[in-house]
Order: sequence, then C-alpha cells, then structure tokens
Amino acid sequence: MIEKPWGGRFKGKTSRLVEDFTESISFDKRLWRYDIKGSIAHARMLAREGIINRDESKNIINGLREIEKEIEDGRFVFRPELEDIHMNIESALIEKIGEAGGKLHTARSRNDQIALDLRLYLRDEINEVLLLIKKLQRVIVTLAERNIDVIMPGYTHLQRAQPVLFPHHLLAHIEALNRDIERFEDCLKRLNLSPLGASSIAGTTFPIDRVSIAKELRFSGVTENSIDSVSDRDFAIEFCGVASVLMMHLSRLSEELVLWSSSEFDFIEIPDAFTTGSSIMPQKKNPDVAELVRGKTGRVYGNLITLLTVMKGLPLSYNRDMQEDKEAIFDTVDTVKESLKVYAEMFKGIKIKDKNMYNAAIGGFTTATDLADYLVKKGMPFRKAHTLVGRIVKYCLDKGKTLAGMSIKEFRAFSEIIDSDVFSCLSVEKAVNDRLSYGGTAKRNVLRRIKRLKGRL
Ligand code: ARG
Repeated sequence: MIEKPWGGRFKGKTSRLVEDFTESISFDKRLWRYDIKGSIAHARMLAREGIINRDESKNIINGLREIEKEIEDGRFVFRPELEDIHMNIESALIEKIGEAGGKLHTARSRNDQIALDLRLYLRDEINEVLLLIKKLQRVIVTLAERNIDVIMPGYTHLQRAQPVLFPHHLLAHIEALNRDIERFEDCLKRLNLSPLGASSIAGTTFPIDRVSIAKELRFSGVTENSIDSVSDRDFAIEFCGVASVLMMHLSRLSEELVLWSSSEFDFIEIPDAFTTGSSIMPQKKNPDVAELVRGKTGRVYGNLITLLTVMKGLPLSYNRDMQEDKEAIFDTVDTVKESLKVYAEMFKGIKIKDKNMYNAAIGGFTTATDLADYLVKKGMPFRKAHTLVGRIVKYCLDKGKTLAGMSIKEFRAFSEIIDSDVFSCLSVEKAVNDRLSYGGTAKRNVLRRIKRLKGRL
C-alpha cells in the first residue's frame, strides 16, 4: 500500500469512494511537464540559499529528470490514491532517491505549486493560441488579396444595405481577431508572475529567494501577497473570458459561412474535405465544421461560467473547490486551438462565387444611398433626398424596375435637379470606390490595409 504524503495525522484509511471522488490525477497529469520544471527550479533555489545541500539538490533534479523521461515514454504509473500530479511526482521521487526526495517540498505547498503549474501551462498555451490566430489571419488575408475586386452586398439586419468589397468584409473579421490577440497578450502580462514561495498561505520561515526562481522560469516578476497568490484564479478566468470573445468572433464568422454556402446565398463553396454528407439525403453537403465551431462556442462560454461560479463564494485563500478549475481550463484550450486549426485549413480551400456575390450586390437597391448622396451634392438637404429616393425605390418596386433601369424621364419626374449623370452614381463599382473615407470600403483603402496587415503578420 502506498503511504499518503499527508498520512501522518490519520489513523483511519481513506475510503475508496473518497479517493475516487477527490483525485485529480486523471486530468491534472497533463501538467506534469510544468510541475517538474517548477520543482527543478525550486530545488536549485533551495540549494543556492543553503536550505538543502548541493548533493541533495543534484539528486532531486536527477530524480525529477528520470521521472520526466518515464512520463514522456509512457512508462510512469499515475496513481489515483496519490490524488494529484504533485503528490504522484513527489512520491515517485522519494521512491527513487530516498530521504533527499522528501526535502523537495521544503518551503513549498501544493497550493503555490498548482498556482505555478497553471500559470506556466497557460503561458505556453496562450503563446500557441496567438500563433494559431495569426496563422488563420494570414490565410484570410490571402483570400482577401486574391479576391481584391470582388463586390458583394454589405448587410445590416441581414438585409442588403450597400455594396462593399468582399475583401473589406473579410478584413472586418481580421480586425476583430487583432483585438483578440491584444486581449490575450494583455492577459499574459498579468499571468506572467510567479506565485511560488507563497507556500500554503502565509509565506515561509525559510530564507527563500522568490525572484531568482521567477527569473529561471522566465516570469516577469513575482506576485505580491502570499494569500492572494494561492487564492487567485482570475488569470484563468481572464483567459476563458478572452477565449469566449474569440470564440464569439469565430462563431459569427461560422454563421456567415453557413449562410453563404446555402443555396439561398450561394456565395461560397466549402471544400469537400471540410464538409459532411447526410445519412439519408444524398444531395446534401453540410457545413458541419462551421456549425461545430459555432456550437463549441457554447462550451467555452460554459467553461467561463464554471470558473466564475466555482470561485464566487470562496473565502480566501485556497479551497479544494479550486481543483474544479482544471477541466474547464483544459477544455477551453483544446476547443480554441482545434477551432483555429481547422479554420485555417478550411479557409485555404474556400471557393468564392464572385458572380453570385456581384449579382446580389447589384440587386436590392444597394446604391440607393448613393442616389441620395447625388441629390445632396446637387444641393438638396439629406433628409429630403432620403425621402425622395425612398419614393423612387417604391416606384421601382411597383414597376418591377431597378434604379439603373429607370429612364432619365422617369427620374426627372421625381426631381428636376436629376441629370443624365445620375447613372454613374448607380454603379456598385463607383459606390464602392467612392467610399474613400478612412476605413471605408474603397479598393485603395482595402489594399493599403492588406499591405499593413501583411507586414505585421
Ligand atoms: N489538486 C489540487 C488542486 O488542483 C492541488 C492543490 C491541493 N492543495 C490542497 N491543500 N489540497 O487544486
């Protein structure tokens, strides 16, 4: 039977039911690399400060490296009766090197250890997520560049509003992703502080050097308050919050892909490799990847709510409830990374049906605003022009005409100030390229932004 590291105070044996209920090794084993890394840094510091001797530190580090190798090779046996990753590794170390192994936990507690592991883990994962967002951005920017002249209807209320460049629409998503990048980077700043040395709650009587461990582990500094250090999970909540916003953005993009690939819109074709069929309807080609990214957004929101709810009623400092944070964090990391990866691949193969986009853009009176602007430039107040164009549109609807299909005579019946130059303002190309205001859809603007983005990505 394995002794529990905390067994000293107990006479009775832990119930099997409780062992199963309280263990976290089945999921927190994923933190092994960070746990070992933190322990090695801790052992080095203990020796530097003369808290353990050099030989002990060396033995501990060698033992930890062996365990690292065993886990890597899949030879390590994780034991649920040892609860979590910290005690599994510590027990294995003592088994391996004897007495000296028991000195590793000097001036440390699992409370600051788990806070450290999570920060190290999330730091790596956030950096990966950042790379994946940028990869997706690159693919989307390439798609924008390749379709630089494609015009589509821009929508408000999902009703055709004004013609825009398709690449302009794509870049709107890029800007949202840029903000997600900033948010993750900001989250990294607060997360990148070492809590090690807070020990269980109050700090330690040993002459530790928190700063040198922080340096070795490439933290930008140390946390200020020992109680806060073991209580704080807002770095994880922030991560899930930022991830939720990112998923919300991907979900809106998904919604558009689903709409655009429907026969009703028929703006794009998603490659076969990224769609699935129906088990009954032979004609179906379903945009399941987009739907699942949209659906998985719900999981990530759920994980955020899980963390917020787990934390909301907890008195400071550490409480075992906090063990419930891990699966929510891991699931968020996995979901976000998988969604970004599959999207980057899928976007490479999306086919743009530019003719259909164009035809949709020239229908639906999308240049009505341009007609109003035309009247304004001829001296009519905008509100009056708006009403007049509204009446012209109504007239067209009744007659089954388009604006461009009106004769000059018909136009002049509405207003004498309309001349034959009116027709030029009704073209979608002109409507797009006259919108030169900063951030507007004109090709010149879009090209400039693509160039800047490419330089940054
Ligand atoms: N497995 C624990 C967790 O994930 C580690 C910290 C345990 N600390 C304690 N005092 N029981 O939160």
